[in-house]
Amino acid sequence: MIENLPQNCQSHFGRPSGTELPTGSGTGSKNLTQNCQSHFGRPSGTELPTGSGTGSNPLLTVDGLKKYFPIRRGLLARVAGHVRAVDDVSFQIREGETLGLVGESGCGKTTIGRTILRLLEPTAGQVTFAGQPVTGCRGARLRALRRHLQIVFQDPFSSLNPRMTVKSIIEEGLIIHRLGDRRQRTALVEETLRQVGLDPSYVNRYPHEFSGGQRQRLSVARALALNPRFMVLDEPISALDVSIQSQIINLLVELKERYRLTYLFISHDLSVVEYISDRVAVMYLGEIVETAPSPELYRNPLHPYTQALLSSVPTMEPSKQRTRIVLEGDVPSPSNPPAGCRFHPRCPLAMDICRHQAPRTLRIPSPAAATSPDAELDAHVVRCHAVEKRMG
Ligand SMILES: Nc1ncnc2c1ncn2[C@@H]1O[C@H](COP(=O)(O)OP(=O)(O)O)[C@@H](O)[C@H]1O
Ligand code: SF4
Ligand SMILES: [Mg+2]
Repeated sequence: MIENLPQNCQSHFGRPSGTELPTGSGTGSKNLTQNCQSHFGRPSGTELPTGSGTGSNPLLTVDGLKKYFPIRRGLLARVAGHVRAVDDVSFQIREGETLGLVGESGCGKTTIGRTILRLLEPTAGQVTFAGQPVTGCRGARLRALRRHLQIVFQDPFSSLNPRMTVKSIIEEGLIIHRLGDRRQRTALVEETLRQVGLDPSYVNRYPHEFSGGQRQRLSVARALALNPRFMVLDEPISALDVSIQSQIINLLVELKERYRLTYLFISHDLSVVEYISDRVAVMYLGEIVETAPSPELYRNPLHPYTQALLSSVPTMEPSKQRTRIVLEGDVPSPSNPPAGCRFHPRCPLAMDICRHQAPRTLRIPSPAAATSPDAELDAHVVRCHAVEKRMG
């Protein structure tokens, strides 16, 4: 447990820096008591793989994850059905990698992020972080794990308590996790503010005294102060003014490199996802329909839904301009998803088989997978009968 880390496992700021968790690198993680000396209390991590393609052991594994919300009706609030917000989703993220998760509003992106972090209890499936089961984990063990799994919410206006000062917002997690004494926590709060580009003299201010961009920096600081290894970034810029969105994205990229963070980056903005992500997963109505390394997905989208999404992304380069594909109809309800391929009522390529048989998961040979030491994770994966037919 974190509270039981040896005395000598203290960072520059007196923070227990490491974790009892294995590193997930598969390259021989060191005992963390020998490895606790970085500036920000992070294990130096030189034994870990960097970014995509350098290691084969994922840091995070999501396997068959389902989250169904009950629909209650009547005076007795009987369960009359379920919103199948996330329905049998599997993916992996390597240490140091950013996986972009895209899809229209309501397709289940936020539910995935929150269920991974156990802010929502999964209906079924497993989440494993650095070899440790997150699902099924309870009490002190879950608390210890949570420190490494942080989230930045979409709306920096509602996600920060207006009655708490900057110091108490950032310090709260440190107190919960019993990290450092009062003096050490104060120093860490100030240092974290510097890391996210805010003046440490702001510690006694309240969230309403900040702009949207500054508030989102505060949200990032709150997560970062705990020295996490993995962060869910749930549409972190979509509530912000366009003029400051790029500043927050650049901050997230810098922090990722500085602290070797691993991100699940959730967004409906495909341009931003292309910029920040190593790989991208496309979601439709609770399911992942296509996953590929980012350059591969944007160069060669295979699923008709991905093609439609990408066709609406504006580009300055005429050679990259795609013919706009307008999808007919609305997204069906996740409480009663269509049989077969869930996309069939809107798909321009729908065939008979699509209406009654769910497509298989196909692994398509791709240039990225061919040159990757980790071909399985870098494969181009798609679920579509039309693609299967085309491949023969
Ligand atoms: N607490 C909840 N109770 C019932 N339904 C929910 C709840 N949270 C989300 N949903 C439903 O689950 C589906 C997925 O929502 P969400 O994960 O927020 O999608 P996204 O983040 O992609 O916009 C939506 O239909 C939404 O209405
Ligand atoms: S399986 Fe059929 S309906 Fe679904 S995306 Fe492919 S072609 Fe369209
Ligand atoms: Mg959302």
